[in-house]
Amino acid sequence: MHDDDIRQLRDSFAAIRQAREDFGRRFYATLFRLRPDARRLFPADTDMQARKLADMLATIVRDLDDPARLEREFAALGRRHAEYGVSEDDYDDVGAALLMTLRESLGAAFTPALEQAWATLYGDLAEAMIAAEHRASEA
Ligand code: HEM
Repeated sequence: MHDDDIRQLRDSFAAIRQAREDFGRRFYATLFRLRPDARRLFPADTDMQARKLADMLATIVRDLDDPARLEREFAALGRRHAEYGVSEDDYDDVGAALLMTLRESLGAAFTPALEQAWATLYGDLAEAMIAAEHRASEA
């Protein structure tokens, strides 16, 4: 990933972080609007879940310049997601919900270049998680 993209992603995350609980709540509301059937995978109280999501995003943007470490974190996350009953098809909708929530939260600051940077990052992470889920199910 280019330095410019990393800087953009970090700056945009810093803005979200100020209101991370709000961001998390919006994210789950959007996801469950797109995919009502995914609601049953999550606990009733999504506030804790929203905090975990924000912490994970913080870890990701911190490690953007250390792809090997990022890859390890995502492989572990992918294996856990297989246990949560998440399937490969779910990733597109979660990615769409993430981009929609970023657009809603950042407004005009969510430029096309920034959207592209987040979409690329999410795509890479989803790919690493899905590959790890496959390895886990074959083991
Ligand atoms: C890049 C994509 C994703 C990231 C960064 C992410 C992040 C997380 C994190 C940090 C947790 C907390 C638990 C843990 O660390 O294992 C979690 C749990 C969970 N995630 Fe994801 N996730 C992603 C994709 C998905 C997808 C596609 C689904 C499908 C709907 C999903 C459903 C769940 C569920 C069901 C839980 C467990 C809830 C519980 O029982 O507490 N996640 N996720």
